[in-house]
Parts: sequence; C-alpha cells; structure tokens
Amino acid sequence: MIPILFAAPLFNDLAMRFIHALSRLPDVRLGVISQEPQEKLPPDVRQGLAAHWRVENALDPGQLAWAARSLSQQLGPPHRLLAINEQIQVPLAEVREQLGIPGTTAAVAQNFRDKAQMKAVIRAAGLPCARHRLATHAQEVWDFAGEVGFPIVVKPPAGAASQDTFRVGSPEELRALLANTPLHPGDPILLEEFITGEEYSFDTFSIHGKALWHSWTHYLPAPLEVTRHDWIQWRVVLPREDDDRLVKDIRPVALRALEVLGMDTGLSHMEWFRRADGSVAISEVGMRPPGAQITTLMSRAHAFDCATAWGRLMIFGTFDPPTRQYAAGAAFLRGYGQGRVRAVHGLDQIQQAFGPWITEAKIPQIGQEKATSYEGEGYIMVQHPETAVVEQTLLSIVQTVRVELG
Ligand SMILES: Nc1ncnc2c1ncn2[C@@H]1O[C@H](COP(=O)(O)OP(=O)(O)O)[C@@H](O)[C@H]1O
Ligand SMILES: [Mg+2]
Repeated sequence: MIPILFAAPLFNDLAMRFIHALSRLPDVRLGVISQEPQEKLPPDVRQGLAAHWRVENALDPGQLAWAARSLSQQLGPPHRLLAINEQIQVPLAEVREQLGIPGTTAAVAQNFRDKAQMKAVIRAAGLPCARHRLATHAQEVWDFAGEVGFPIVVKPPAGAASQDTFRVGSPEELRALLANTPLHPGDPILLEEFITGEEYSFDTFSIHGKALWHSWTHYLPAPLEVTRHDWIQWRVVLPREDDDRLVKDIRPVALRALEVLGMDTGLSHMEWFRRADGSVAISEVGMRPPGAQITTLMSRAHAFDCATAWGRLMIFGTFDPPTRQYAAGAAFLRGYGQGRVRAVHGLDQIQQAFGPWITEAKIPQIGQEKATSYEGEGYIMVQHPETAVVEQTLLSIVQTVRVELG
C-alpha cells in the first residue's frame, strides 16, 4: 500500500471530489490534512480515508509539517503530499522539501503563485503578457498609470478567484482606490496594464515538464466583469474543436511559458486573452487543477474522470490522453440585488427544452444566502456533440433562469 497525503484547508465540493477519487485508486492509503473535522465529509467520502489530521491553519508550513509527520507515523513515509488549492501550493512545497517527499519545489511553486514573479519570468522569455509593477507607494502607482495609460488593473500579488482585483478606469477612480487602500512597504500591490480581449483558459496535463495533453475553455464574459457586476449569470464553454486559429496561436506560447516557469508533473490551469487584433497574451497560470467547475467540464467533454486521472498522474506518473467527444459548458446562476434566495424562475422551461443535455445542476435553494463567490448561488452544466448547441443552450439558460433574492 502507498501512503499518500492530501491537504485541503476546507472540504468544499471540489476538494471532496478529489479526496473521493484519490481514495479509490488501487494500493493507495490516503491521509487527509484539513482545518475542518473529518465528520464534515459525507460517509462515502469519509470511508476512503485511512487517516486524518486536523490543523488550525492549513496554510502554515509548520502546522502542515506537523500534520504530515504525524500521519506518516500512522501510514508510513508518504510517497506524495498533494493539494489542489491555490493558496496552499507554496507552503506545501516547502513541507515536501523539508520532509524529503518528491514533488514540485517551493521555488517553482512560487513562480506559479506570485503573479509579479510569474510575469517577470514569462516576459523574460519573450512571451506576451501584461506589463506589470509592484507598488508600495502611491507615486509608483501614478507613475505606472502614466506609463501604460488607463485602465489599469490593481490586484494582490497572490490572489485567487478574482477577489480584490479591480479595474481602474480613470484618475478619479485611482484616487478613490488609493484613498481606500493603505499602502505598506512590506505589502505591495500588483499593477497591470489592462488587456482588452476575450478571455480563455488553457489546461494542461504535464509529466516531468513535458506537456501531454490540453483542453481549453472560453469565459463569457471575463471573470473581472463578472465580479464587477454581481448579477451577471456567466458561462464557461469548453469547445469540442481545437479551434485551429486560437489553439495554434496560444499552444506554443502556453507550453513555453509552462517550461520557463518550471512546470513539473501535474495539471496546470492557465488563463489568457485574445485581443481584437488576434494577438494573444498570457494572464496567469496555476500549477493545480482548475476551479469554476472546469474540472467537471473537462471530465464531461472527454468522458473520463479528471480527478482520478490527476491522481494517477501525480502518484503513479501515468496518463492516458482522453479524446474529446463533446463540447461542455456551465451556466452560473446568480441573483440580482441583496438578501436570500426567494425563488428560482424558469427552471421548468429549461428542463423541458434542454433536459437531455443537462449533466448536472446545483439549483439555488430557497433561503440560501447570496453567494460571495463569482460561482453564484448555483449552476447548470450541459454537454452536446456540437459546440454551437452548448453555446446556445447556455445562453438560453442565463436568459431564462432568474434567481430572485429578497
Ligand atoms: N491585466 C489584465 N487585463 C485585463 N483583465 C485582467 C488583467 N488581470 C486580471 N484581469 C481580470 O481579472 C480576473 C482576475 O485576475 P487574475 O489575475 O486571474 O486573478 P485570480 O488569481 O484572482 O484569478 C481575470 O480573470 C481577468 O478577467
Ligand atoms: Mg485567474
């Protein structure tokens, strides 16, 4: 039996899906590290755990090392120490190094976590991405805005899920933002030139630095638009085709970027833009499976289980590239205004019109609080052999379904 450790600060849906998949791999004895008690796991997931260690703060390398050591006393020396969460990647890599567990190094994890460093590495390789600067003084912010022009983007150097990322469109908006954002010498903010274009992902399975396979998605509209307008019911489309032009342009850039950043073995999630003039630019890349339900879309479009494939790759170093058989997509359901969910309208109509293409749905529940994340109060996912049908169906869903808050 092979001892494998998986760290998940919280037991969200995605973490539970990965725990479930890992625990079912042959010969794996799974130890889980989390902030939440194992009692929070549903019985079928909990059953798969050989051991569990609870920590107060899963992002603290000291606590992670303590948990990993304690679990290795129960299970034997861990073969891998894994996680899918974005924020945990660097502390986890530090603990791997400390305990001599094979896997991505902390230096590489930092390249994927620190957006300023990531952009510096990507630009140094001559690859396209937004101009950027770290700033700790208001003057630096004004200087940068003067150089690149408005709009600019202001974000934390190591964020996730578009939280605290702002588009600043004018000197007035910048003045207001600076008034509300005290700058500290030890706590820089990241400034970026604003890239106008369509936004996509490029998701890659790699082994020992060699890309084996990719899939891609289109965000409609861009996540920043979605967080700026908390009522937008947005869509993610995973096209069936490897659109000649788009993929031909981004693929070499994406693969070279992964190489210079030091991607080792795993599933990476890159975000990128295509400008109106056709040029592409990398936005950011994480060395972990994607969120925003993209992992599920990848599973549906390729008729495989993405979480299991990731587990096999990470633990046994094997990967069978699946063939794309469908287009897939998600429509995120989001209420307008404030309050709790009072009603969800239009579901019957959608079920009647598109029922056979719906693969899964999380329907907002009456009384549920308004979501804080851009994933909204719920979602509906569809799959179909034709990309155009998926696109049209998602559009109909977001135009028909209405989450009433109050
Ligand atoms: N330089 C940029 N130009 C235009 N839009 C941007 C830029 N940087 C970020 N965004 C928008 O903000 C969103 C969140 O920023 P991102 O760097 O991806 O942070 P996160 O780690 O939170 O996903 C992106 O998905 C994109 O829509
Ligand atoms: Mg992002």
